[in-house]
Amino acid sequence: MARLTAQPVAQLAGVQRDAFDAWIAGMTIVEDHEDGPGFAAWIAEHATTAGDVTWAFIDDGGSIVATASLVRIDRELVAPADGWVLAGVNVARARRGQGNGAAVVVWILGEMRRRAVEVQRPLVVRLQADDPTAIRLYRRHGFVADDAHPMVYWLLVTPERHNHDDADR
Ligand SMILES: CC(C)(COP(=O)(O)OP(=O)(O)OC[C@H]1O[C@@H](n2cnc3c(N)ncnc32)[C@H](O)[C@@H]1OP(=O)(O)O)[C@@H](O)C(=O)NCCC(=O)NCCS
Repeated sequence: MARLTAQPVAQLAGVQRDAFDAWIAGMTIVEDHEDGPGFAAWIAEHATTAGDVTWAFIDDGGSIVATASLVRIDRELVAPADGWVLAGVNVARARRGQGNGAAVVVWILGEMRRRAVEVQRPLVVRLQADDPTAIRLYRRHGFVADDAHPMVYWLLVTPERHNHDDADR
C-alpha cells in the first residue's frame, strides 16, 4: 500500500496550497466525480465549519496525491451524534490504482480510532458512494451498506485496534 502523509488543507502554504487549489479547480464530473469550482466551494465552506477537516495526502516526494474530509454534514448526509461523515475522497487521476485510495481509507480509519480513543466510545463513520471502485475500496475496509439509505455505507470504529484499520499508521 502507498505511503502518504496527511496534512490538514488549512495548514498548507505557498506552492503546496497553490498545487492543491489548482488540482481541485481542474476536476471534472466525468473524470473525478467532482465539478472543480463546486468542489472548491464545498471545501471552503467546510473549512469554516467547526470540527470539519479536509486533508491533503502527500507522497514522499512532496506531491499531493489525494484528499478526504471528515465532516458533520455532507449535503443531505448527516453524521450520527457519535460519528462523522467521510466525504470528498479523491485520488489524483495519474495516481489511481496504486493503493493510494486504500492508504487514504486506512489513515481515515486511524483518525477515527484516535477520536474514539479520545472519547472512550465507538464512533460511526458514514459515507455516500456510487462509484464501483470506491464501493469495493470501502467494503474491503469493513464498510457495510445502510439498508435504509441507498448508496450510504457505514462502519463502527471502536477505541480498540482492529486488523483492518490503522496498522500502518
Ligand atoms: C475511488 C478512488 C478514490 C479509488 O482510489 P485508488 O487510489 O484508485 O484506490 P486503490 O488504488 O487503493 O484501489 C483501486 C483499485 O486498484 C487496485 N490496486 C491497488 N494497488 C494496485 C497496484 N499496485 N497495482 C494494481 N492494482 C492495484 C485495487 O485492488 C483496486 O482494485 P478494484 O477496483 O478492482 O477493487 C479513485 O478512483 C477516485 O479518486 N475516483 C474519483 C473520485 C471518486 O469517485 N471518489 C469516491 C467518492 S465516494
